[in-house]
This record gives sequence, structure tokens and C-alpha cells, in this order.
Amino acid sequence: LSSIIVDISGVEVGTQLRVMFLGKPVFIRRRSQEEIDKARAVSLDELPDAIARNANKGEVDASDENRTMDEAGEWLVMMGVCTHLGCVPLGDGAGDFEGWFCPCHGSHYDTAGRIRKGPAPENLPVPMAVFLDETTIKLG
Ligand code: FES
Repeated sequence: LSSIIVDISGVEVGTQLRVMFLGKPVFIRRRSQEEIDKARAVSLDELPDAIARNANKGEVDASDENRTMDEAGEWLVMMGVCTHLGCVPLGDGAGDFEGWFCPCHGSHYDTAGRIRKGPAPENLPVPMAVFLDETTIKLG
């Protein structure tokens, strides 16, 4: 089975759901407007990794719009696997950029899951994901 269906109807704004997919954690975050605004205020030249790393979009730049599921930027789906050596980053506003923080060696990710500081070389990868309806996402 290479895809799973996730019910996101219970995910409140400013929180996230963690599910397992192909043996790895996936974070499904419903971002607050503040998180969205913060991510969209960042210019590409501030990013150590300027590639979106979004399996749904190919080699596009890492602007916030290229990272999220929807145009409004409310839904962000990413693998919860640090791109340094694979630890699971802490979420809910962790780290210097109020996104995610990997405690293994100190990598800081922003509210779009983009690496901003620390040894991780790449943004947290966005897996293949699609809305089946307003409250259901298919991963894979
Ligand atoms: Fe995340 Fe090293 S595994 S910083």
C-alpha cells in the first residue's frame, strides 16, 4: 500500500496532526495567519536551501506558496524527518524561527518547514499529497 487517507477535520488552526506514512512521520499542519505571514515575509536569498523540495511541484523555488497544499497557505504537509541525519524535529513553534527544531544537532526550520540555521542541508520534504475533499488528504 503506497498511499494513505487522512481525515483532517479535527485539526484546529495553529495545530498539527502527526501520522505515519511508509514508516516515517508526516506532519500535517493547519497554519495560523501569523505563521503564514511570517513565512511569506521571508525573501528567497535568506534561505540556505532555495528549492521547494515539494514532490507535487518539481524544481521550483522555496517561496512559501510553493510549499503548501492550498493557495491561502493554511495547510502544510511535510515529512517529519530532519534532512541532516533523520531525527524527528519538534514542532509547534519550536526553534529560533518558530517552526520546527531538531534537537539532535540544532537545526532550525521556519513556519514553512524551510531550513534556516544549523547543519541540515535541505528544507523538510513535502511528500505527494492531494485533497480528496475539504477534510480529507491522500498521502502518496
Ligand atoms: Fe537534525 Fe542532525 S539530525 S540536526
